[in-house]
Amino acid sequence: SAKPIPGGTLVLVEFDKGIAWVSMNRPEKRNAISPALAFEMIEVLDALEIDDRCSVVVLTGSGESWSAGMDLKEYFRATDKLSYDERMRVYRANGTWQWKMLRNYGKPTIAMVNGWCFGGAFTPMIACDLAIASDDAIFGLSEINWGIIPAGVVTKAVAGVINQRDSLYYIMTGESFNGVRAAEMGLVNQSVPADKLRERTEALARTLIAKNPFVLRQAKAAYHMAREMSWETAAEYLTAKADQTRALDPERGQDKGMAQFIDDKAYRPGLGEYKR
Ligand code: ACO
Repeated sequence: SAKPIPGGTLVLVEFDKGIAWVSMNRPEKRNAISPALAFEMIEVLDALEIDDRCSVVVLTGSGESWSAGMDLKEYFRATDKLSYDERMRVYRANGTWQWKMLRNYGKPTIAMVNGWCFGGAFTPMIACDLAIASDDAIFGLSEINWGIIPAGVVTKAVAGVINQRDSLYYIMTGESFNGVRAAEMGLVNQSVPADKLRERTEALARTLIAKNPFVLRQAKAAYHMAREMSWETAAEYLTAKADQTRALDPERGQDKGMAQFIDDKAYRPGLGEYKR
């Protein structure tokens, strides 16, 4: 394709039959997140959302790390010298990609955690829809180890996926844990041996690619919204969202699925998707 590949030096993108493999790329700094990386990631995610070569985003890291968290020098020490407005601009860029864009992304996202994942890196990892880790990936809420609290939105993100006892245990001890433990706590969907990580992630991405993309988008938005609503409001909202989905779905999935099952007896929805 003649279309340019988004990204530059700090974020790499590789397309493979509908999957955009997006890598944080500062391996020599364990993919620590600098302001420049944040600004580049915003551009990449923005471009991929409307790029036909991408149906699913896999977010991973170059080399031996997923990401060692916020860059202590460039994100903290360097921004200490800035004015409040300048510092907030950098913080905003980081929040923009790490959770505002990822949580509300139009396409499915999978965090493929291949190695070190510390502190601030928890936010984008949790903001991805799904996460697969290597058994030997090392995670840690290491903030306490250098005298800060898990801020940004790390604490909020953690509280959304891990129970109270485990959240406070890792927030307060700063103890690291591996991918197996992360899966046990529900921080990631699954952990697999390192040599199976890409294969498993790709299989999951292919499962998502087979589904109706518009309905996927609506389903995940509905999850995040409904979770924070009362039962009464959620029932009203979800009915309206379902009607909106049916009305706007370009491939008329509901009608197809219904006809293929009830009229044609061509598939069993309990066991797999309709023919698109
Ligand atoms: N910020 C800035 N630089 C970092 C970071 C970081 N978060 N993590 C690693 N680096 C840099 C190191 O300073 C070093 O740079 P140098 O080669 O210029 O000296 C380089 O990456 C390699 O780091 P090492 O420590 O030598 O790598 P090693 O493989 O031995 O250890 C590990 C990796 C465990 C990830 C270690 O680097 C580490 O503990 N990093 C900090 C993790 C952390 O606590 N992150 C911050 C969480 S808090 C937050 O995000 C808000």
